[in-house]
Amino acid sequence: MASQTLTIRKPDDWHVHLRDGEMLRKVAPYTARQFARAIVMPNLVPPVTSIEAASAYRQRIVEAAGPGFTPLMTCYLTDHSDPDEIARGLAEGVWIAAKLYPAGATTNSASGVTDIRNIGAVLSRMERIGMVLCVHGEVTDPEIDVFDREAVFIDRILQPLTRDFPALKVVLEHITTIEAAQFVSGAGPTIAATVTPQHMLINRNAIFAGGLRPHAYCLPVAKREQHRLAVRAAATSGSPKFFLGTDSAPHARHAKESGCGCAGIFNAPFALESYATVFEEDGALDRLEAFASINGPRFYGLPLNDGTVTLERAEVQVPGEIEGLVPFHAGETLHWRLAG
Ligand code: DOR
Ligand code: ZN
Repeated sequence: MASQTLTIRKPDDWHVHLRDGEMLRKVAPYTARQFARAIVMPNLVPPVTSIEAASAYRQRIVEAAGPGFTPLMTCYLTDHSDPDEIARGLAEGVWIAAKLYPAGATTNSASGVTDIRNIGAVLSRMERIGMVLCVHGEVTDPEIDVFDREAVFIDRILQPLTRDFPALKVVLEHITTIEAAQFVSGAGPTIAATVTPQHMLINRNAIFAGGLRPHAYCLPVAKREQHRLAVRAAATSGSPKFFLGTDSAPHARHAKESGCGCAGIFNAPFALESYATVFEEDGALDRLEAFASINGPRFYGLPLNDGTVTLERAEVQVPGEIEGLVPFHAGETLHWRLAG
């Protein structure tokens, strides 16, 4: 009989949106319940571009999340980012990575980078000091089909970037395609990727199932089935290049269920349950711990967490709404439950 519990080293979330103010206070406890640390995305309004803003935001997260949770901050890169400030923020322990949003690619990315050449000096400094670049890997060229934007980004931007800065540590965030899985698998040890639960569990049909489904919409948008399977195979393969990043991205219900609905899936409340479902279905439960708790800290050069979490085999009914937000798996039954 299959084991009834699974105990793994305490995991981290290497990509999450915790927002600010009232939304932060609502969502942070869900991430803190599941994870010891999380890399917090800086796409607030205004974006987190300075050491001062990142430190103040970190403090607000600590207050909202409560004890036992460590937010790991990122710096939002713009055309005007200063290599000295980026390096100083790393040296002072304020942030551990910088995030590249191509301008216009996603939520609150208007201040992002309009041309990768504008941050050449920043990338060169980051390469020298060993600072990780987190990448939203989609081109914004309106002529490129939305479902092709990740693959085109790899060709046009990421390939040249890794050639020009061969020692730069890069995380291709929330991968959604065969092209991304293959690129990362075939690249050297400085290139890794995060994988969300949704990109392993839904394909693009979910967005159109019986009508338009705003709660299945995120960016990069879910792709065809063959892509979902490739992303899943990469994540569950045991390769140290792939690790857990939920991309939990809450938006108020009215902002999702709108004539122009926001991109983002709020998956924080049942994230580990969701990942465990995938790994079990693929016969890879023994690889969940590396994906969730080991590969990420090894890549970032951080210590592994002490302590463990236990998942129990039990039916869990996911509510239709949590804190006024519609969570991933709303109304479904999951077969794992995080104990405690
Ligand atoms: O779906 C997404 N939501 N993708 C992103 O890249 C950003 C995020 C957000 O901040 O809402
Ligand atoms: Zn994100």
